[in-house]
Amino acid sequence: MALEKMTYAEVRMPGKLIGILNSGGDCPGLNAAIRAVGKAAHSRGIEIVGFLDGFRGLIENRYVQLDNAQLSGILALGGTILGTSRDKPHKMPVGSGETMNMIPMAVENYERLHLDALVVLGGNGSHKNAYRLAKAGLNILTLPKTIDNDVAGTDVTFGFDTAMSIATDAIDRLHTTADSHQRTMVVETMGHDAGWLALGAGIAGGADVILIPEIPYNVERVVEAILARSRRGKRFSIVAVAEGARPMGHDDHDHDDDEDDLEEAFHPHSLRLVQRLEEMAEIEVRFTALGHLQRGGSPTPYDRLLATRLGTRCAELIADDVGGVMVSVRGDECVPVPLKDVAGELRTVPPDHPWIDAGRAVGTCFGD
Ligand code: F6P
Repeated sequence: MALEKMTYAEVRMPGKLIGILNSGGDCPGLNAAIRAVGKAAHSRGIEIVGFLDGFRGLIENRYVQLDNAQLSGILALGGTILGTSRDKPHKMPVGSGETMNMIPMAVENYERLHLDALVVLGGNGSHKNAYRLAKAGLNILTLPKTIDNDVAGTDVTFGFDTAMSIATDAIDRLHTTADSHQRTMVVETMGHDAGWLALGAGIAGGADVILIPEIPYNVERVVEAILARSRRGKRFSIVAVAEGARPMGHDDHDHDDDEDDLEEAFHPHSLRLVQRLEEMAEIEVRFTALGHLQRGGSPTPYDRLLATRLGTRCAELIADDVGGVMVSVRGDECVPVPLKDVAGELRTVPPDHPWIDAGRAVGTCFGD
């Protein structure tokens, strides 16, 4: 067989071969994790290929060999050298709005390469997709990554600490300009349906009001908190709001004609909050959405360390023939937990979480 017709699996040295991909939104620390899995795999004689652009690369058989040259110099690099996508193997867009179940193609490519395992770096949605592939027969190991910190079965996900640092820095910066102009600043964090980012950055940045999806808010309580501050001589207030936060009694299906403009805008719920604060408290309010800034740039030392610990533990588990697991953080340990126990489970902020207690103890208003 001519060499160019042979697959990498056919020309490689005997020994284990694994694949790695990241799926869903990117986050700082992905490259640190790829490097860690790859280097620790190499040290155990395991070779590794990286699929490009999420599950799509596996389905389209697009991959690169990850040797030392590819894995070098990427520890502190943001984004991901492999690219990512939100494509789902069971519902893959195939043009003109149609989707197809491509799981059989993923299985075929996995088998053609004679992979011993596939490592998926993913958040909440990606764990569901990884589990679908595991049920189709692939030996899957996952690492929990996302700025949302909402993956069940782990104390923390990598990417979260960096996003929280960026959001905290933004809140620090908003303080000075808010004070100069005697304004209320509403700052929206990402986080999807979980409030970890707004809560962590809000407390670390000293936000006066923190609104998260897990605690539906009463806008009157927010107004009271801001006015009470101004009666105490405070010239400004900072409101940290998670993108998923909603007022009490809100129904996403409700639609008020007066809200037409806002419903069409990005951040409709936060903008509605801004409008109501201006009307009810008669104050000047400015809005900042931190958006994808929270996912950009170099990972913090904490995230580099976490991604390295999880990635190296993952390679160790593969060498020991462990599969069908997510490598999770439990206290000081990185431990495997069954993928079936975490797929589809969302880890939101418990209302009695110590961070909330700490926030309340320093006088933070949670809108309830
Ligand atoms: O899951 C990570 C996340 O950044 C969420 O916080 C946010 O809701 C979503 O992704 C944004 O997705 P996209 O990058 O596809 O706009």
